[in-house]
Amino acid sequence: MAERTLIIVKPDAVQRHLAGRIIERFESKGLKLVAAKLMQISEELARRHYAAHKDKPFFERAVKFMASSPSLVMIWQADGIVDIVRKMIGSTFGYEAQPGTIRGDFGCSQRYNLIHGSDSPESARNEIKMFFTPDEIVDYDLADAGWLYSTRIGPKK
Ligand code: TYD
Ligand code: MG
Repeated sequence: MAERTLIIVKPDAVQRHLAGRIIERFESKGLKLVAAKLMQISEELARRHYAAHKDKPFFERAVKFMASSPSLVMIWQADGIVDIVRKMIGSTFGYEAQPGTIRGDFGCSQRYNLIHGSDSPESARNEIKMFFTPDEIVDYDLADAGWLYSTRIGPKK
């Protein structure tokens, strides 16, 4: 199965009406959306999601922020998607992220950073299990996959 990543359009991005523009970037890149739901993340779920950071000074603040207002949670799929999407998202806060990235183009806050993307295929698998049941994930063939992923021109990937 092709690689998957968990994307969270965070409370600040939903409140700032940026969800559509963020989705548009992933669609334009040719990535495949396989699950999506708007949800109010609980503090308990946010704590589990950020468990790797539980001893960091920003942990409580990050948890409260994630649970402060609804988020759009999605799974996107493509070969190599974790790295592709991390590059598109940019470095952690908008004030330092490169222009052309999502964080670099849509914000300059040192507190809110618009979007989460899994940092490895393994974390993606764990995070996907936290947010989705298997029956919420819809796999299907993209009609233009051959053009997008070079499968039309030979074995080179
Ligand atoms: P991290 O996994 O380091 O960043 P990224 O989202 O780029 O993978 O941190 C998780 C979240 O914690 C980050 O998106 C926002 C928050 N955070 C802070 O509030 N302050 C900080 O100094 C850091 C490093 C993260
Ligand atoms: Mg991270």
